[in-house]
Amino acid sequence: MNNIAIFASGTGSNFVAINQSIINKELNANLVLLVSDKPECKAIKTANELQIKTFSFEPKNYKKKKQFEQEIVQKLQEENVDLIVLAGYMRLIGETLLSEYKNRIINIHPSYLPHFKGKDAIGQALIHRPEYTGVTVHYVDEGMDTGSIIEQVKIDLLENETRETLEQRVHKLEHMLYPKVIKKVLEEL
Ligand code: GRF
Repeated sequence: MNNIAIFASGTGSNFVAINQSIINKELNANLVLLVSDKPECKAIKTANELQIKTFSFEPKNYKKKKQFEQEIVQKLQEENVDLIVLAGYMRLIGETLLSEYKNRIINIHPSYLPHFKGKDAIGQALIHRPEYTGVTVHYVDEGMDTGSIIEQVKIDLLENETRETLEQRVHKLEHMLYPKVIKKVLEEL
């Protein structure tokens, strides 16, 4: 069975959804590690409650990204991680992780890429009001939300759409889509 590590910086609702799909036996994988650059975030607290191993670090304690990424690589190797799943990890992945896990890092982004890359994609959609936005799962490269797309789904924008309604619908879709795409990616490894 494949081992996955999830990287998160915040709430961790996708982390919980992926873990639940493993418990429900919809996704055949071991969730062996949660990595976070925010030691106090909710995702870390949830992982502790669920007794899932964690590795967290404070980027400001390191001179260079390379240094904390080397520590991450060591932890991932100790756990024999096959696939890195970014779920709200608010940091660009650097050369150290990219070269060690080539084509083995995926990310979920709350827009129909290439539209609304980067921070607050939901807010960007609400300002520009396109006909639709969506959710995209893609491989990670050195750019910001630029890697090749694995799967994406559209969400029509409602006339009276608010941040609350859109966030809710985006998250609901993410929680269904991400476990399915992880399953597909693992089958192709
Ligand atoms: C998700 O909307 C994801 O698309 C984006 O960050 C958010 C993370 O949410 N990359 P959560 O921490 O999983 O609740």
